[in-house]
Amino acid sequence: MVRQLESKDSAIYYNIRLEALGLNPEAFGSGAEDWSKATDEQVKNLLEKSNQDDFVLGYFQDSELVGVIGLKREKKHSVGHKGTVWGLAVLPRYRNQGIGKTLLKALIAKASENQELKYLRAVATVSVLNAQHIFTSCGFKVYGLEPRGIKQGQNLYDQLFVMLNLRD
Ligand SMILES: CC(C)(COP(=O)(O)OP(=O)(O)OC[C@H]1O[C@@H](n2cnc3c(N)ncnc32)[C@H](O)[C@@H]1OP(=O)(O)O)[C@@H](O)C(=O)NCCC(=O)NCCS
Repeated sequence: MVRQLESKDSAIYYNIRLEALGLNPEAFGSGAEDWSKATDEQVKNLLEKSNQDDFVLGYFQDSELVGVIGLKREKKHSVGHKGTVWGLAVLPRYRNQGIGKTLLKALIAKASENQELKYLRAVATVSVLNAQHIFTSCGFKVYGLEPRGIKQGQNLYDQLFVMLNLRD
């Protein structure tokens, strides 16, 4: 079951994101170290402010939160037609069962209801092949590549930029 996370979900959301950032740091634009410093109040605020422009969806299996994905619409008027998909993660033991794709499809459906959003974009690390596959199989097109866009420790990773038009 997919549902929008609320402030009451702050502890389980904090934990799943911390685990994902720790296990696959090359896949994300932010690191586990920064997230580990987030207070419960900050995480609650993030989820409490959920609205049609900014939200986090969670996938629950037998009441356990096993996957997450976020959307953030740009705030400034000139770029307010863009939404960024961020923080897609599924716990390792639940992977390859369609949960990541289900979350992305649910996010696309919800974002499509927002008439202000013209397109969604996302960044995927080139070496993370399953994430790229999920985006392209949901209709996202590659529009750019940033060599060495992410640094984790001493390693540099190329990043792919992908986008999906929601409306003209
Ligand atoms: C990426 C991630 C969210 C995928 O979640 P998931 O629930 O396993 O994804 P799904 O089961 O819905 O889909 C996986 C797809 O990748 C495909 N896949 C798996 N390994 C692959 C590979 N090496 N190359 C290409 N495709 C691959 C699967 O076949 C499946 O596609 P299909 O349904 O069309 O057959 C999960 O692996 C994860 O949390 N990874 C760490 C964090 C991360 O990389 N996040 C993405 C940030 S952009």
